Formats: sequence, structure tokens, C-alpha cells
Amino acid sequence: MSESVHPVPTGFNARIGPGDLARLRAAAEDDTDAFWLDQARRIDWTAPPTQAGDWSFDEQDFRIRWFADGTLNLSVNCLDRHLAEHGNRTALIFEADEPGAGRTVSYRELYEETCRLANLLKSRGIGRGDRVMIYMPMIPEAAAAMLACARIGAVHSVVFGGFSPDSVAGRIEDCDAKCMITADEGVRGGKVIPLKRNVDAALDKRDVETVIVVSRTGASVPMKAGRDVAYADVRDSLAIECEPEVMAAEDPLFILYTSGSTGKPKGVVHSTGGYAVWAATTFDWVFDYRPDDIFWCTADIGWITGHSYVVYGPLVNGATSVMFDGVPNYPDFGRFWETVDRLGVTIFYTAPTAIRALMREGDGPVKAHKRTSLRLLGTVGEPINPEAWDWYWRVVGDQRCPVVDTWWQTETGGILISPFPGATPLKPGSATQPLPGIRPLLLDPDQQVLDGPASGNLCIAASWPGQMRTVWGDHDRFFQTYFSTYPGLYFTGDGCRRDADGYYWITGRVDDVINVSGHRIGTAEVESALVAHPKVAEAAVVGFPHDIKGQGIYAYVTLNAGEEGGDSLRSDLVQQVRKDIGGMAAPEKIHFTPSLPKTRSGKIMRRILRKIAEGETEGFGDTSTLADPSVVDALLAGRK
Ligand code: PRX
Repeated sequence: MSESVHPVPTGFNARIGPGDLARLRAAAEDDTDAFWLDQARRIDWTAPPTQAGDWSFDEQDFRIRWFADGTLNLSVNCLDRHLAEHGNRTALIFEADEPGAGRTVSYRELYEETCRLANLLKSRGIGRGDRVMIYMPMIPEAAAAMLACARIGAVHSVVFGGFSPDSVAGRIEDCDAKCMITADEGVRGGKVIPLKRNVDAALDKRDVETVIVVSRTGASVPMKAGRDVAYADVRDSLAIECEPEVMAAEDPLFILYTSGSTGKPKGVVHSTGGYAVWAATTFDWVFDYRPDDIFWCTADIGWITGHSYVVYGPLVNGATSVMFDGVPNYPDFGRFWETVDRLGVTIFYTAPTAIRALMREGDGPVKAHKRTSLRLLGTVGEPINPEAWDWYWRVVGDQRCPVVDTWWQTETGGILISPFPGATPLKPGSATQPLPGIRPLLLDPDQQVLDGPASGNLCIAASWPGQMRTVWGDHDRFFQTYFSTYPGLYFTGDGCRRDADGYYWITGRVDDVINVSGHRIGTAEVESALVAHPKVAEAAVVGFPHDIKGQGIYAYVTLNAGEEGGDSLRSDLVQQVRKDIGGMAAPEKIHFTPSLPKTRSGKIMRRILRKIAEGETEGFGDTSTLADPSVVDALLAGRK
């Protein structure tokens, strides 16, 4: 075998060794229900469940339920249950944009802040089942806002601060939110982000009853009487106790919007009980958690990684979690490592795109800091190329820290394929093996299950507790999107290779989703933003390989008769996408073309567009079904 294999580093003294992992796998096989009920014991239930999974992926009988007769409150699991013994333990370390300008928040303080916010929400008439949007910087109040919703049974929907007001409005409308929790401004990389102004612009399109504004910079922002509440003005009058609602395991905990191949972003709905068990279990297994760890996941809470591994997974386990409100290159490229040293971070979890961007700056900014506290490194969000893996392992981790490459999705709630750091030999670029109880399958396009070493489409054959339960407001879309391509199986949308050792190598999306710096962008969304411009007749968007971002966005645009393409129109179009979606969806390349390669039935041949975007000049396969084969030459001539 050509690839290198790294055994567990000798100094890594893991809680879960190879024997323990083998026992976990065997237990999951032998008595699946007992195994999952055992994992559910990590949670304090008001009524413990007696049933594990109750699910079927078949159309006639389609259902996904876990621990359905259990009741619980997740904020109690994240907060109250730690107070007696660990009330003074640090729950969150807020690491502000300006190094050292943050603060620590103990479990008791987070509990009190959560109760205050929960009481404020209740006083505004928000309760069980109501939807609350959260559009905030990475400040402790953002975690408290999520937990406050969980406490009163409201369903939160966090929107990443990089999304535009139009996107925010679309999400408010889709889930019919009653309330918005935001901040006056955010600060990232030294730049101010006008959060409240964006919220106001969104609310001009679709209003809510209540807006709670937390003070981050203290800027004075417009407040609408009757609707907007300045949290700082009422905070001290709010009680620091709030009776938690008893929730059923299957009650929705949150909605998180994510892009797919078609249409508008989908509201991925996660349950309370199953999600809690999965976030808690995977955090413990994959990060080999110990009570003295300082855990830093660099993700924003606007993404699922922030939900599961900044907030819920760590807090259910009573861990200390770093909330980072900055960027990797501010004030300089040593920021991560300076912070690791200052906070004594032991486990560090980030995205391959950040690793590649830092690797480009050389070893200097890493070596300038000691990093001796680190014991475990992790990655998530996109395939990591072996060169970047090797650099992370060798330079950042000094060949001492295992690197866990964790594969999962918004839909899966938590990690599904990953090494156990103390038990799994690593291969750079492979997410290695499924966690106990997870049953991946590879299939070819003809529905055949592939055995042994093979490449195919990645499906999962059995449900797990953290699986999403529905698409908000569109259960049929849930079934159609994930369970109709391969009947009886959950289809992930990813391509994957399995090697002779049974290791999984994710190759990327096989649908029309582009992964830009670990952010999922739907081609259909970018296309509809582009065609909204009055000069554009048609647009087709594909991904192309990008050294740092993994993939970049390449847009083919056909203009209305008589219109001229040029740099000024290019920047107008980029602006249009920024306005409709947000900066991360802005096309890197815009290629004006008189026509797109279409079959005689009018379907755009994206395969050809992808190849051209990748810089290929030949090998387009069968083009005989094109209505006008000369389009290919014209596209090649006009390439960006
Ligand atoms: O294509 C896979 C890629 O990210 C997609 C899921 O994106 P999202 O829902 O935004 O969640 C990202 C954080 C969990 C997947 O379908 N992906 C995620 N992790 C990996 C990955 N690709 C390869 N290796 C990974 N470790």
C-alpha cells in the first residue's frame, strides 16, 4: 500500500483503547437496542426511555424516532446537572477578536444567563414550539440564547452572521419565527459587522414580534419601540432561575438551514433526545474527553459543527469549550497557536481550509508558539488532502497528537465516520472507519451494493440517534431528498472509496452542492441569484478545485440579447449574489457565454461545464446528445 499509516502515538494515553473499541463495536452488533439505550444513559432524563430506535427508511412505513417514550430538558443536561459539583468550572472561554479581550464563563454563570434569557423570552409570550432566530457573534450570550430556547421548549434556528438580510428574511418566513435574538454589532478580523442593521433590513421584508438586542460593541443602533428590547436594559431585572419545560425526546430542538442540490435551503430539523445522546456520545468517543481538557472547536454556531461541538456536545459532558469570535489570520497567522498557548488548549478541531491557508504561510507562525498543551487535533467539513494532513500532524502537532478526520453532515447531527484517537491507526486523507452502530454502504448508480474495496455513493443503512427528523414544513421533501435515490437507505450525497482495510475516503459531493471552505453552497441558489439580475438570461454554476477553499464557484452566464459582459457587470453580479445569499456564495469566476451546452431536451450538461471549469480542454465524453456541439468550442475559447 502506498499511503502511510500512523499508529496511535506512543505517548497518547487514551481512555478508549483498541480493546474498548472492539467491545463497543461488538455490543452495537449484538444487541443494538441495548447498546443505544446504554448510550442514552449519558443523559439525565425526567422519564428514562425504554425504547431505542423505532425507524424505517421504506416509503410505506417511513419513520425515524429514538428514545420516544423518554422525556428530558437539554438545558438541564448542559447546565443544572453540573452545578452541584462543578458550578465554578469554566463552561465557556470566550476568545474575542482582539487576543486576550475575552472572558471565562462558569457553569453557574452560564446557567444564570440562560435563565435570564429564558425568562425574557417567556415574558414576550414565547413558549413551547415557537421558533426563535439567532443571528449573533460568537459570544457567550449566543450559547445562552440557544440554551434558553431549549429550556422553554422553543425551537431555535441560528443563522450564520455572514448571511445577507435577504437570506435571513427567507428563513424567518420559512419557519415563521416569532422572535429574533441578535447583537448590536459583531467584530471579526478587526472589522465591524452591522448585525442589528442587517436584522432591520431583513425585518423590513418579514417582521417578527420581538427582537432582543445583546450589546457586543455598545454601538448605538436604531430600536423599534414595542418590538426591540435592549438586553442590557432589562438583564438585571430578570430572575436567575427558570423552571425547565419537560420535553418529549422527539420534540424538535432546532432548525438549521442548509443548502441542497435544488431549490431554497432546507430547514433541517433535529430532535431533542436523540440529538442530545448523539452530540454527547460522539464528543466523548471521538475527542477522548477528560475533565481537565480545554476543548477548542473553531466553528461558528451558525453551522452544525458549532451546535454539536461548541455548545451541546461539550456542555452535556461538563467540558470547557472555547468560543472563538475571531479569524485565523488576525492579528496575524499565529493567532490559533498563540491562543492555544494562552488558554492551554488540549484538543483543537478546525477545518481543512483553515489548515491549508495557514500552511501556505510556512512553519514560522506555528513554531513561534509552543503548543505543548495540545494532545489531539481534528478536522471537519471537507476532504483533507494528505499534504495538509501531514503538515497538521507534523508541524502543528509535532507528531505527538493524533489527527481525527471526522466525516459528518448537518443532517447527521454529529460525527459518523472518524478514528477513535487511541484505537484507530490513521491514514492521512481518510476519515477511517464508522463509529460503533453506524452502517455505511457504497452503491453504484444501478442500485448495486459494492463489497470490499470499491468506490461508490455513500449511503447509511441504519438510523442512529442524531439523524435529522424532517425538513421543516416539508416532510415529503425530506423523504425525496434522502431516501428515494436508494430505496431503504439514507443517501448522503457524497462519493466515497473504501480501501482493502475497510477505511473510508470521502471524495466529495456527487450532487449539485459545492463545498467552499467547508460551507455548503447549492448551485441552484447561486443560479437563481444570478438570473435575478435584469441583464442575465441564464446561469449555470459549478465548482472548481481551489487550493485553499477546496472548491471555488465558477458561474457560466448568458446575457439577454444586446447586453455586453465585462468587469463592471461581473462585479454587479457578485454584488447580487452577496445580497441574495451572502459573501461566501460569491462566484470566483464569471464566464460570459452566448449559450450553454444543452441536450436536445434542454438539460444543461454540467459534466462539461465542470470539466471546463477544472481547466480541461478535452475528454468531455459523449457530446453527441448536445443540441449544438459547437458550444463546447465556444466555451473553451471564452474560458476565464
Ligand atoms: O461532503 C461532505 C463534507 O461536508 C458535507 C456536509 O456539510 P455540512 O452539512 O455543512 O456539514 C459540515 C460539518 C459536518 C458532507 O456531505 N464533509 C464533512 N466532513 C468531511 C467532509 N468531506 C470529507 N471529509 C470530512 N471529514
